Amino acid sequence: MDEKARILQLRDELHRHNYRYYVENAPVISDQEFDFLMHELQDLEARHPELFDPNSPTQRVGSDLNNEFETVLHSRPMLSLGNTYNRQEVADFWQRVSDGLMGAPFQICCELKFDGLSISLHYEDGRLVRAVTRGDGVQGDDVTANVRTIRSIPLQLPAGGDWPREFEIRGEVLMPWSSFDRLNAEREKADEPLFANPRNAASGTLKSKNSSTVAQRGLDAYLYYLLGDGIPGDGHYQNLEAAARWGFQVSKNMRLVSTLDEVFAYIDYWDEERRNLPVATDGVVLKVNSLAQQKSLGMTAKSPRWAIAYKFQAEQAETTLRQVVFQVGRTGAVTPVANMDPVQLAGTQVRRATLHNADVMASLDLHVGDRVLVEKGGEIIPKIVGKKEQGARSKEQENTVSPSNPLAPCPLPLAPINFVERCPVCGSKLVRYEGEAAYYCPNDTGCPPLILGRIEHFISRKAMNINSLGPETVDDYFRRGLIHDAADLYELKVKSEELKVKNKSNNSEDDTNSDSSLFTLQSSVSKILASIEESKKIPFERVLYAIGIRFVGEIAAKTLARYYGSMDKVASATLDSLLQINGIGEVIAGSVIGYFANPINRAFVERLRGYGLQMEIGEQQKQAQSDKLEGQSIVISGVFQHHSRDEYKALIEQHGGKNVGSISAKTSFVLAGDNMGPAKLEKAQKLGIRIMSEDEFLSIINSEE
Ligand code: IVH
Repeated sequence: MDEKARILQLRDELHRHNYRYYVENAPVISDQEFDFLMHELQDLEARHPELFDPNSPTQRVGSDLNNEFETVLHSRPMLSLGNTYNRQEVADFWQRVSDGLMGAPFQICCELKFDGLSISLHYEDGRLVRAVTRGDGVQGDDVTANVRTIRSIPLQLPAGGDWPREFEIRGEVLMPWSSFDRLNAEREKADEPLFANPRNAASGTLKSKNSSTVAQRGLDAYLYYLLGDGIPGDGHYQNLEAAARWGFQVSKNMRLVSTLDEVFAYIDYWDEERRNLPVATDGVVLKVNSLAQQKSLGMTAKSPRWAIAYKFQAEQAETTLRQVVFQVGRTGAVTPVANMDPVQLAGTQVRRATLHNADVMASLDLHVGDRVLVEKGGEIIPKIVGKKEQGARSKEQENTVSPSNPLAPCPLPLAPINFVERCPVCGSKLVRYEGEAAYYCPNDTGCPPLILGRIEHFISRKAMNINSLGPETVDDYFRRGLIHDAADLYELKVKSEELKVKNKSNNSEDDTNSDSSLFTLQSSVSKILASIEESKKIPFERVLYAIGIRFVGEIAAKTLARYYGSMDKVASATLDSLLQINGIGEVIAGSVIGYFANPINRAFVERLRGYGLQMEIGEQQKQAQSDKLEGQSIVISGVFQHHSRDEYKALIEQHGGKNVGSISAKTSFVLAGDNMGPAKLEKAQKLGIRIMSEDEFLSIINSEE
């Protein structure tokens, strides 16, 4: 057999073994044999780059390339479901369906509601071609490269199946409890922040820039909705059975029922039994089975009338409060966190719960030793929701005795817990900004979590876009004293040897395996240095945003940059002058003045200047400006021919307009490319908002005044 044929044969064989292993849980060869075949394929593929196939089983291990996610329109909007929390509403749903079908008999498919993130998979000729997150329902992120690493998702369907040439299948990407526990244990060891629940972990992982991280984290997926012309069955359940035959992982716990009592029996059973499942679920989904009946019931604006989600009650548990600690976040916000006796809750052992803020804490009137109620809802970190009044004293305290009268119960009141007045990290007096519930540490140049927050903001995509440097590396460099503020990043060049060596022994940033070669480390250091160098070209308005003046967001930074033209002018602006500017109010103006009044900030900015960052608005920007779009709010939608979305965004701003995300009565017009999202189109038409083509738009901004 020639090598090409062998490659194809191996791919086919490995796809089948993957399926047996990850979907059927019934492998027919040992792991070693599997690895052996995989290595053979890897070797052959290395010799034949011309036969590269992104869907080859070898691609499941991911790559180290940064995946820039592209936003793509869904071919059909991804709707969500109506939620109910009680049986009456389930009964009402049943009645609505029955009325809607004018009394005709119907079946309901009962399914588990998986608690992960929804995904839409597109197949053409049996091959996975695209995987898109839900996003806002109209458009989502193209995460195909990451999804390819999820082993229960088939990349290539077995030949000869009755699958349509083109179809879409939707489902949920999840992190099983076992992967979640392992990941958090690793993170705890590495002193990294833990994921609150499997859904957050799955979502963080799927959005990872590095598909090899995704490959290592053990995600899984269940598919629950088949769409497209030419799908085989006329019932939802039957279609999922077909999908299961084609190799998709479909839940084995779906049931077709014909009475409301059966629905309740299903709910009751799974409310208990879900604790024994390998993945998190937060309810059940009820769907009318017949596709014809689904069609006749139709949709509301947001969700189908033929389906509903019943959510399980958030689980609660009772335990004893031991202590409240105060955490300082990257923004300086101080959060009270309760330490409690460990208690089993929704599949994990819980010993910490958030108390949100000073007001919530005060309303609970807590004392050390209180018996408290802890709750864990779907996406939320456990929180204390109340306390048991009668249990206000812990056992130990009841057993202690007053020294004066050994027979009387302890007369001392329990110590109340108060919110701190000073930052627990640096000791600064906390402040509360108007209209905000949180207290903040104001010491943003001296308090470590805030400094880290500032550096992370500085390197973020919309600021200096130093994308090869993740928060974990920043943390690592900061802890090791290599950087003390964002300006130190520009000194890293000199210390690059040190970075390399240390990075090798303390491989916390690299997502690659421990056996990765020095090559990867070197290349990751040089990638970091290159993107730091590259950031020197970032335009002034983004530098102004990056330096992290509180309340100066992207828009305010642009406004200031355009108005003053240079850092020096912004730094010496007076309050009066700032308040003249459209869009700059007292809060922002005061913050700008405060920022430049601080010599530490001034010195920081001077250092950045010294390293060659842009401190003035570019020539081009100055020239390109006009006020043709002054005062206009413009929504961008669809796919464009002449410029990218970001370029259009920039053009709108250069001509005095404002790009806004969603259509409202205030929208001036929609700049529409091809395939404008159907929801947006409908809304624009309803509100009578003008839809402008790309060419029309360009001719307006390019016209002579
Ligand atoms: S069906 C039009 N089935 O729950 C029907 N959704 O708000 C679309 N989910 O966004 C969804 N398990 O992410 C469906 N068995 C299941 C599900 C499920 C979890 C999620 C899905 C959706 C949300 C509903």
